[in-house]
Amino acid sequence: MKDILTLGIESSCDETSVAVVKNGREVLSNIIDTQIPIHEKYGGVVPEIASRNHIEAISRVTKKALEVANIRFEDIDAITPTYGPGLVGALLVGLSYGKALSYALNKPLVGVNHIEGHIAANYITHKELEPPFICLLISGGNTQIVHIKDYTEFDVLGKTRDDAIGEAFDKVARVVGLGYPGGPKVDKLAKEGKPNIELPKTHFENLDFSFSGIKTAVINLNHNKPDTNKADLCISFEKAVTEVLVENTMKAIEQTGLKTLALGGGVSANSYIRNEFLKLENQGIKVYTPDLKLCTDNAAMIASAGYYNYINKKISELDLNAVPNLKLQN
Ligand code: KG4
Repeated sequence: MKDILTLGIESSCDETSVAVVKNGREVLSNIIDTQIPIHEKYGGVVPEIASRNHIEAISRVTKKALEVANIRFEDIDAITPTYGPGLVGALLVGLSYGKALSYALNKPLVGVNHIEGHIAANYITHKELEPPFICLLISGGNTQIVHIKDYTEFDVLGKTRDDAIGEAFDKVARVVGLGYPGGPKVDKLAKEGKPNIELPKTHFENLDFSFSGIKTAVINLNHNKPDTNKADLCISFEKAVTEVLVENTMKAIEQTGLKTLALGGGVSANSYIRNEFLKLENQGIKVYTPDLKLCTDNAAMIASAGYYNYINKKISELDLNAVPNLKLQN
C-alpha cells in the first residue's frame, strides 16, 4: 500500500508548529516554534500578539518541516490544519495558510480538532495502541474523559464544569509566584514538598470535574497564611487533583469494561500525575502516556489525527472556518 503523508499545521495558542507524518504514526519532522518567551512578560498568552507571531513564523516553520522530512510539497497527500478549539485569531493563521496550500497544490484539506490531536499523540508514541480505549484529556483548555470507540468516533463520558485542569495549574503557579507557564514550574517545585495540606476535592455522581473550588482554596490559603510552604502547597494541590482524576477515570473503566487507558494534553506531562496513573497497571490496566514532547501543542499529533480523518474520508471544504469552542463530536 502507498504511504500517506499528512502535513499537520498547529497554531491554536502560542506554538507555531508544522509537521510531516507518515501513515499517521511515523514522524518525519515536527518543528515547534514556541512563543513562550514573548508572552512570559505578560504572565499569560496575549491573543493579538500570538496571532501576529504566528503570521511571522508560519512560512519559515513550514519550509523547515519539509526540509527536515526531506520531501517537497508535491509529496504530501493531505493538508491537515487545526481549526479549533483555540484562540480565534491564532487558529485563523494556520487554517488560512493550510487552505491556501490546499488550493494552490490541489491537495485535499482535512480540518483537525485539536483535542483529537492530543489523543493521537499516543498513536505516535505507542505503535501498538488501537481503539477502543479510555482517554483522559488534561490540558490548558480541556479536561475530559473520553471513550475512544474508533479513530474518529468518540463518546465524552465526563468533563469539567468550570476550569480546565491546566488553568488551575497556571493559576496556582501565579498565586505562589512562579509565573507563566505555570504547570511545569509547579511540577518542579512540588518535588521538594510534602503533601501535608488538606485541600477541597469536588466529586459528582457522574464523571464530571470541577477545579474552581481547589483553585480558590489555594488562593485563599496563600492570602491568609502567606508563610505557607510553597513546595508543600504545590504537591498538596497535585495530590488532590490527581485523586479526583484517578477516581473518575476508574469509574469510566468500570462503566465501559475497557482495560486500556491513555493520557493526553499538556498536563499529562506532569510527573506526579504520570506516576500515579502508571500505578494503575498493578490493577491490570494498561496505561499509555504520550512522549513528553508530544504532550504539549505540536503539529505531529495534528498530522496523525488528520491522517485518520483523511483515510476515513472526512475531507473539509475550502470554506472551513475556525471554531474557537469546538467540541469532540459524540
Ligand atoms: O495541551 P496544551 O499545550 O494546550 C492546550 O491544548 O490546552 O496544555 C497547556 C497546559 C498549560 O496549562 C500548562 O501549564 C500545562 O499544560 N502543563 C503542565 C505541565 N506541562 C504543561 N501542567 C502540569 N505539569 C506539567 N509538567
